[in-house]
Amino acid sequence: MEKLVIKGPTPLKGEVKINGAKNAAVAILPATLLIDGVCTIDNLPHISDVMISCEILEKLGAKITWNNKNSVTIDTRNIHTTKAPLDLTSKFRASYYILGSMLGRKKEIEVGMPGGCQLGARPIDQHVKGFEMLGAEVTVGNGTIFATADKLVGNSIYMDIVSVGATINIMLAATLAEGTTTIDNAAKEPHVVDVANFLNTMGADIRGAGTDVIKINGVKKLKGNATYSVVPDQIEAGTFMLAAVATRGDLLIKNCITKHLDSITAKIIEVGGIVEDYGDSLRVYCKKRPTKANIKTLPHPGFPTDLQPQMGVVLSLADGTSIINESIWESRFQYTQELNKMGAKITAQGKTAIFEGVEKLSGAPVYSTDLRAGAALIIAGTSAHGITEIYNLEHIDRGYENIEERFKSIGAQIERVKE
Ligand code: EPZ
Repeated sequence: MEKLVIKGPTPLKGEVKINGAKNAAVAILPATLLIDGVCTIDNLPHISDVMISCEILEKLGAKITWNNKNSVTIDTRNIHTTKAPLDLTSKFRASYYILGSMLGRKKEIEVGMPGGCQLGARPIDQHVKGFEMLGAEVTVGNGTIFATADKLVGNSIYMDIVSVGATINIMLAATLAEGTTTIDNAAKEPHVVDVANFLNTMGADIRGAGTDVIKINGVKKLKGNATYSVVPDQIEAGTFMLAAVATRGDLLIKNCITKHLDSITAKIIEVGGIVEDYGDSLRVYCKKRPTKANIKTLPHPGFPTDLQPQMGVVLSLADGTSIINESIWESRFQYTQELNKMGAKITAQGKTAIFEGVEKLSGAPVYSTDLRAGAALIIAGTSAHGITEIYNLEHIDRGYENIEERFKSIGAQIERVKE
């Protein structure tokens, strides 16, 4: 078993370069299944979710050539099965994108029920509704999802809730469908836009991604034969921004799209931090104790749920009492119990948590309950006095490349230790 051992407190200082976005990469890799040809994807984060995605593609018949650890060339001309490996697809959430891609390419697919972070109920009814409206039959049961269609035909689909996964999945299935598909009440996250940009680069005709109406004019074939670079990770950038504030440090966060970070910038300024925007980089620093603030997580461009735990660390150290209302995932406050072990005073009930700010946190053994909880605990450990040990690192490794080396490069005293 591995653990991270952090000695704090350390104000984080220096420069950090943001990698390609996990949640774009795990959709773009399955999207290559729509291509009858070869493409290259650059700026892929080297994380376990990406490695598993590539393994699934190989099992379906794709030929994968690594150009370096962040770039891959994928040849999807010989997809020879419509049964995705159940063990691998059940390991993470984004395996559901195999459904949309393979329905588009082969009109049939079976995958294992998607796994991933335990954030509460994670229904897929909107994905299923979208596929059915395009003409597919979908059967869910016995831990698998089976989808099949004679042909897919474009339709007008109104999403009952704003869903990143369902928006991307319907976009994937509609790319090679006959006619035009319209998705109303679509998700607007940067990774939705990035998947649309990737598909368009490969030959698709998708318009409006980034607004709440996306129009997909079906094309006959995606030729590929192009290189695409994954968008910088909004959540990774936000994680380092909040790490700068929680540790009262000073970081230059390079290679980010600052517009994607507006909601985080606004909250950092509200709690007394300073953000300097240089277009493709941000300097974030905080010289004094942060002040209280209230947060409600919302779909983009609202405050992202995937930065709620990291913001929770800032608020646990703030002067005054703050409230976070989590409107996306019902079980995203599990990390608060771990922060309380470090001296935080947080009361979480249902979708609301009250943070009575404390002056300092103290090191303790804690457990990463999901990916972003893990990131929050690293920030907490770096801010806290004494030694923090973080367990369950597999969650963190799913989404952050080389996390301890990058925290070390900005001053953290952090080591990965085998027990
Ligand atoms: C994506 O999950 C991300 N995962 C999550 O990131 C992120 O928290 C979430 O979007 C919200 O931004 C990936 O991109 C791989 P949703 P997704 O469909 O697509 C409900 C991280 O830490 N819903 O936008 O699964 C659902 O229960 C992860 O990187 C339905 O009711 O999320 C939730 O309340 C964790 N029916 C809300 O919609 C459906 O069919 C938003 O979920 C689909 C979703």
